[in-house]
Amino acid sequence: MLIGIPTETGPGETRVAASPETVKKFVAQKHTVLVERGAGERAAFTDDAYAAAGARLCDAAEALGAALVLKVRAPSEAEAARLARGGVLVGMLEPTDEENARRLHAAGVTGFALEAAPRVTRAQSMDVLSSQANIAGYKAVMLAANHYQRFIPMLMTAAGTVKAARVLVLGAGVAGLQAIATAKRLGAAIEASDVRPAVKEQVESLGARFVDVPFETPEEAEIARGAGGYARPMPPAWLQRQATLVAERVKAADIAITTALIPGRRAPVLISAEMVASMKPGSVIVDLAAAQGGNCPLTEPDRVVTKHGVTLIGFTNLAALVAADASALYARNVFDFTKLIVDAEGNFALNLEDEIVRACAMLPAEVLSNQTTLA
Ligand code: NAI
Repeated sequence: MLIGIPTETGPGETRVAASPETVKKFVAQKHTVLVERGAGERAAFTDDAYAAAGARLCDAAEALGAALVLKVRAPSEAEAARLARGGVLVGMLEPTDEENARRLHAAGVTGFALEAAPRVTRAQSMDVLSSQANIAGYKAVMLAANHYQRFIPMLMTAAGTVKAARVLVLGAGVAGLQAIATAKRLGAAIEASDVRPAVKEQVESLGARFVDVPFETPEEAEIARGAGGYARPMPPAWLQRQATLVAERVKAADIAITTALIPGRRAPVLISAEMVASMKPGSVIVDLAAAQGGNCPLTEPDRVVTKHGVTLIGFTNLAALVAADASALYARNVFDFTKLIVDAEGNFALNLEDEIVRACAMLPAEVLSNQTTLA
């Protein structure tokens, strides 16, 4: 099959959907891989490296016109117009945005949105949310350290002792746990909180203190368990108790990293404007939920701002700031997913009985309800 790897054209997007390593694997499976010249440049993958892996270098039209196109982000209107009718597109296609689905249907393209993969064991190697959130959690600490005007570790010097920075991590999923692990390596004193009680043990095993918001009713405990590995919105009474506790911990923190998300909804507000005003001057907040409305109302998407003497970092695509590793891991996720939609003869095969394929497929509802297997 002809597989195309175009250059990403979205603002600030530095990643690429295939690495020389995955190109080599596709070529070993007898596919022809077309890589747009310069597609990997911002991720430190040279055209020569792709060519050495067996790719043929080409222009944007050829890469986008391939039978199977691998992308990082959903295509723009201009890109969608260049996709081949009857072709297949794999990427982070934002399936909840109806405009994206409409664009693909109009172009006659079958899209697979990898963010929609269920959190089952078999899907772990294709879990793009995890691979990219892990990187975002790491980079959040790097950015915080860069903007924080003090040391992170405790130091005893001839000129006196420096206290360790206090880092508060709110939301301890994939990104939050990596932020804890990274801050720990830098010598910070860390506290973390999450709505899901299962996280407590993971937080503590990384050497952080868990800030517990106890449940007062069986209903609260049940909702907090979440669904499919994701959090659900908590009842107002619990959120109120959480806010009281968070206000206390934020005031004591030097750096706050927030990662709390609820799929399909606006991110919960965890650090209010008043809480920001209560922080010490020079404190730093990195709001990883900035693209979903922010865990702090003072965060501005894709900007670094200072309010009440506190630096607020609202970059919405932190993984793109670690472009080489983000692309390498994403490319492996994509490669593993393609095994589910390409048969032994190298042809596209749509098996809607596979729960991962079915969840990712961006097909009209009537197709999903009527058909199980297309070839
Ligand atoms: P996410 O990015 O959707 O959310 C981040 C974190 O915010 C979650 O831990 C969530 O519980 C927390 N959160 C939501 N509302 C909150 C609130 N009001 N206060 C405090 N925290 C709040 O989640 P992510 O990181 O993508 O995954 C969450 C979990 O899913 C992982 O920790 C893991 O246990 C599980 N998972 C399972 C996989 C599998 O089995 N294949 C793969 C990936 C993750």
